[in-house]
Amino acid sequence: MNRSATALLVALAIAGCSKPAPDPVEQIVVRKPGDPAVTVPTPAARDATAVGKQAFAASCAACHAVTASAPAGVGPTLYGVVGRKAGTLPGFAYSAAMKGSGLTWSGEKIDTFLANPQDLIPGTAMSAGAVTDPATRQAIAAYLTSLRNGG
Ligand code: HEC
Repeated sequence: MNRSATALLVALAIAGCSKPAPDPVEQIVVRKPGDPAVTVPTPAARDATAVGKQAFAASCAACHAVTASAPAGVGPTLYGVVGRKAGTLPGFAYSAAMKGSGLTWSGEKIDTFLANPQDLIPGTAMSAGAVTDPATRQAIAAYLTSLRNGG
């Protein structure tokens, strides 16, 4: 290698070193094909999530766990429920009504369900958990949506 080629390589190496370091990776999200996009919550959504978490603890946690690995309680774990087809978590004995509902859970569907579970799914085995206050229902739906995003 001649001198000028060596000088060029040295210059390139120095240029390479002066590049700013890449931002540290804060979160790696693994998404299966067909999963809904993972969104970054806005501050308002984060507030709703916090309110929803409390409301969930008061009204739902007696029957529902919220982690992926938790054993089923009286109700199925609600980790990842948003985007899940109703009545399909393996290993939970759902009612025929829930299994046959054909629903896929979204925040809105959870809101409607909680307003009156028997209205949306006549014959569901969820005998408690109706929430009369719309803001509380929406906060719970926001909280359940956040679970899949690691919140
Ligand atoms: C008394 C126990 C109980 C309480 C309290 C309760 N649930 Fe349930 N929930 C159940 C049962 C049992 C099922 C299964 C229903 C079926 O198979 O028809 C269920 C099912 C669900 C499902 C459908 C899950 C799926 O995999 O399809 C959602 C969503 C849900 N509950 C949300 C809630 C929320 C949110 C609250 C609190 C506001 C709540 N539940 C309170 C017992 C309960």
